[in-house]
Amino acid sequence: MKKIEFFRHCIDDKDIERASAVLRSIFLTTGGEVAEFEKLFAAYTVQEHAIGLTSCTAALHLSLIALNVGTGDEVVTTPMSFCATANAVLHAGAAPVFVDVEEGTGNLNAELIEAAITERTRAIIPVHLYGQMCDMKRIRAIADKYRLHIIEDAAHAIEASRDGVRVGQLADTACFSFYATKNITSGEGGAVTTGNPLLADELRMLRQHGIDRGAADRYTKRYEHWDMPLLGWKYNMDNIQAALLIGQLERIDMLHKQREETWRAYEEALKDVRDAQMLRTIAGVQHARHLLTALVPAPKRDRLLWALQNRGIGVAVNYRPIHLLKYYRENFLYKEGDFPIAEEIGRRTISLPFYPDLTRDELAYVVQVLKEELNQ
Ligand SMILES: Cc1ncc(COP(=O)(O)O)c(C=O)c1O
Repeated sequence: MKKIEFFRHCIDDKDIERASAVLRSIFLTTGGEVAEFEKLFAAYTVQEHAIGLTSCTAALHLSLIALNVGTGDEVVTTPMSFCATANAVLHAGAAPVFVDVEEGTGNLNAELIEAAITERTRAIIPVHLYGQMCDMKRIRAIADKYRLHIIEDAAHAIEASRDGVRVGQLADTACFSFYATKNITSGEGGAVTTGNPLLADELRMLRQHGIDRGAADRYTKRYEHWDMPLLGWKYNMDNIQAALLIGQLERIDMLHKQREETWRAYEEALKDVRDAQMLRTIAGVQHARHLLTALVPAPKRDRLLWALQNRGIGVAVNYRPIHLLKYYRENFLYKEGDFPIAEEIGRRTISLPFYPDLTRDELAYVVQVLKEELNQ
């Protein structure tokens, strides 16, 4: 039987060689490779500062801490995301307040944000779902009106821009993921970007317990006593992760172009499949093309998931909305009907194999099987 993985990464021999060189060296943790990656990543995202971390979850958590969002505060965000987005808010001691999403894109609906703002609201976390940026100009205007912070969850959106604005540029911080299935990956990994130098300094300290000297300083310079002015976490990216990412970042636009072409091929192939609709790409958006999802009729979706897997095709669901996950239902008393559009997407969405080296034959097979199974 044909086997078409849900995801295949693009780590090549040179990336492996760069990581091997780190492994053959003495210094494995946060040092030269991380600094080089951070410089490249800041340049690519057109931001002043990039800080390498262990995950996007860490980036979200540290952003909230550095912006003093904590106990008693509320953060407006979307239920149509991976649970990490809302979990980070809970880890900071604050409460996530969900608002529903746009029907056409699945992104946080900016029109609903103001109604969710209370005197406790401190921040908004927009999530650029599947790689398409939210309406950041609009969200920035709301944040300015109510003096709120913006933390972008850009886990899907390294390459994205909208209306001439690059991801992260209208926010206090933007949070990125290099998890195993992301557009560039080190297995696990993340980064936070910011244009604010004071925030950058604080984030650098917070990623290593709040200590005022990094491991590289402690290794390369003569011993000096270090201090711990803040209480931080252990979230620093290491040199092995950074070494894997540097080459991928250099190839990122080429990889994006390949995914763009594959996206168009899917669009063409799915054009006449009435029961499988792709979401809309808004004019003025450069879509990062991270996840390729189709909306299928809700009563058929779960059967399709099993049927495709039975025929060798990897699939995923991005996402069943956060507010209906057991922990959120039980602790916050959310229920079906609270955010109907996110719920509808959650019942209908299916993510298909999508990555730069997916061949046209593989794509044709995926679409053929999808059509056959939709007609069952
Ligand atoms: C939208 C979104 N936010 C946050 C995360 C968390 O990323 P990480 O696994 O790097 O912590 C993910 C990861 O899948 C994600 O898709």
